[in-house]
Amino acid sequence: MRDFLVWLATELGKGEGDLAMSWSEALASSLNFWGLLEGTHVLALMLFAGTIFLVDLRLLGVAFRNTRVSVLSDRVLPLTVFGFAVMIATGLALFYAKPLLYYHNLWFRLKLVFIAAAMINILVFHFRVQRNRQDWDAAPKPPAAARLSALVSILAWVTVITFGRFIAYDWLECGKPLPHWANVAQSCATSERGAVDLKDVAQ
Ligand code: HEM
Repeated sequence: MRDFLVWLATELGKGEGDLAMSWSEALASSLNFWGLLEGTHVLALMLFAGTIFLVDLRLLGVAFRNTRVSVLSDRVLPLTVFGFAVMIATGLALFYAKPLLYYHNLWFRLKLVFIAAAMINILVFHFRVQRNRQDWDAAPKPPAAARLSALVSILAWVTVITFGRFIAYDWLECGKPLPHWANVAQSCATSERGAVDLKDVAQ
C-alpha cells in the first residue's frame, strides 16, 4: 500500500528534468487550488450533514413529526446524495495532494473507519429497517430500529466531521516522541520521519 502511495506522490505525472514535479506535488504546491478544494469539501459537507440530520431527526421523532418520513426523504435525499458525491470527489483530491502525510495520520485513518461504519448503517437501514416503512411512514415516533439507526447515523457523522477537523493538527505527528500505540496505529516506523517511542526519550 505504502509503495503505491509513494509512486502516486512522487512519480505519477512527473515530466523530464530535475525540477519536474509529479501531479500530486503540483497540486499540493498550488497557490489556491488546494484551498478551493478544501473549501468545497467543507461546503459539500454542510449540505450533506445538514440534510442527512433533517431526516435523522424526523426518524428520531423529534422534528417534523407531522410530515411523512417518505415525503421528507424524497425531498431532501437528492441533496444529500449530491453533497456526498462532491465530498467524496474533493476528499479524494485532497488526499491525492499529500497521500503519505494522510496515510500516517491517525485521525485520517479513524475518519475512514467511521465513514465505513456510517455506510454500513445506511445499508442496514436501507435493506432491513426501511423494508416495512409504509407501516410507520406517518407515525410521529418511528419504531425503535429506525430511531436507533438515526442515532447511529448522527453519532457516526459527527465523529467523522470531528476527526476530519483533527487531521490538520500535528499532535500525533510521526517522528515526535509518541506513545507506542500511536506509533503502531499510524505505521510510523515506515514513515519518512520514523517512529520515536516516548518511553525511550523519557529515560
Ligand atoms: C464522507 C464524509 C466526509 C466528511 C464528513 C468529511 C469531513 C471533513 C472535515 C470536517 C474536514 C476538515 C476541514 C477543515 O476544517 O479544514 C475534512 C478534511 C479532509 N478530508 Fe474529509 N470528509 C469526508 C470524506 C472524505 C474522504 C472520502 C476523503 C478521502 C479519501 C477525505 C479526505 C480529507 C482530507 C485529505 C482533508 C484535509 C485534511 C487537512 O489536511 O486539513 N474526506 N474532511
